[in-house]
Amino acid sequence: MIENNNQIRDSFGSKFGVIAAAAGSAVGLGNIWRFPLVTTQNGGGAFLLLYIGFVILIGIPVMLSEFSIGRRAQLNAFGSFKKLAPGTPWFLVGSLGIITAFAILAFYSTVAGWTLEYFAQAITGKLSHVNDMQKNFADFSSQTYRPLMWQFIIMLVTSVVVFAGIKKGIEKFTKILMPVLAVLILFVAFRSVTLEGAMEGVKYLFVPNWSAVSFKTVLMALGQAAFSLSIGMGTLITYGSYIQKDNHLLRTSTQVAITDTSIAILASLMVIPAIFAFSPGSDVASLSPGPGLVFEVLPDVFKSMPGGSFFSVLFFFLLSVAALTSTISVLEVVVAYLKEELKLSRGMATLIAAVSISVLGVLATLSFGVMKDFTIFEMTVFDLLNYASANIMLTFGALLIVIFVGWRMGKSDFINEISNQGSLKSNLFKGVYFIIRYIAPVAIGIIAIATFFIQGIV
Ligand code: TRP
Repeated sequence: MIENNNQIRDSFGSKFGVIAAAAGSAVGLGNIWRFPLVTTQNGGGAFLLLYIGFVILIGIPVMLSEFSIGRRAQLNAFGSFKKLAPGTPWFLVGSLGIITAFAILAFYSTVAGWTLEYFAQAITGKLSHVNDMQKNFADFSSQTYRPLMWQFIIMLVTSVVVFAGIKKGIEKFTKILMPVLAVLILFVAFRSVTLEGAMEGVKYLFVPNWSAVSFKTVLMALGQAAFSLSIGMGTLITYGSYIQKDNHLLRTSTQVAITDTSIAILASLMVIPAIFAFSPGSDVASLSPGPGLVFEVLPDVFKSMPGGSFFSVLFFFLLSVAALTSTISVLEVVVAYLKEELKLSRGMATLIAAVSISVLGVLATLSFGVMKDFTIFEMTVFDLLNYASANIMLTFGALLIVIFVGWRMGKSDFINEISNQGSLKSNLFKGVYFIIRYIAPVAIGIIAIATFFIQGIV
């Protein structure tokens, strides 16, 4: 398909399409393997309240900032800054976003590949016969060909969806899969909370324990909110550029945030009560978020659960969906950039982006096998990509984006954009701008500094 500048820019066709795509980006492995444990270990309901507070106070305003930049400029993350602040170094924030997308997708595709392997193990029944789940995971992830094959399949599916475009690819795909994901999570969560002994877990999850809340907990709640909403790297700038001019951006941002938070809470109801039902409560405190939870602990839980092999198939399917709707949003950041800045066709841009990211991705995948002793700053390639992107690049990206909107784009342009040239009226618009200009930069700035000193915030 040859596109030229005279053609209308591809866009989302419906409001629901925008929400499905943006929520698809936000709902990822972070919701499932991080949020439930972080919440349970840091005060349950108390953490949840802090988290929701930060989603409203910081998350939604930053998401709205990204949407407004993209929709105003009608360009990719890099081009948007160049157009809105010509002749200034602000385009570097766009470059940072493109590089972050590159780094995130390289290691996220490794993990997304693992979810497919486990889906295959669940559906063939192999998983329910494994005796040592830790060994099963270590054996698989340290191989060379099999993890690479799954990573390749993830990159292929991601590329096919992105190649098909916004309306016919990303929107169509996420509009079907996000509701499926929601129904599956509800279903598995229902199974989990109706297990004998599950109520202990539900209590642990929701009853506020304020004595577990410290300064670090507060930072963790903010860090998790920002990471979970996929803010800070231009995904939402890119998606924003495809949102129609009559869309109520503040309402859309709020709906995306509500979806992401609801799914995180449902994921907690799926994970925590089941663990409580099958192992002593004290275990939850010693678990750490990450692959160990979904590839070692939960498969053991499914083994003991009535109907567990069936639920494990559903679980790994929904995990794969959560991962895929995120990978397509990251690839689109790079593809939109290559397409618009280098004037490539969508096909060529997709091919170049996918192949070059995969080269780095192979190194991330092999970090668990033949390259496990290859380290930079005492980290494997996988760990380095993960740490640099999630802890440093996303945080600085989010900080610079709010500074851009609050101090460079300015009040009238911002309010003009989110009010659809004055046709929407809301008392909230000025308040949101105040947050973006004064509060969000301070809050995110504290996180940016603190990640260097305190481990485990993001
Ligand atoms: N929000 C995703 C999750 O919860 C992770 C993520 C962070 C992400 N930034 C992103 C995904 C950008 C896609 C694009 O797992």
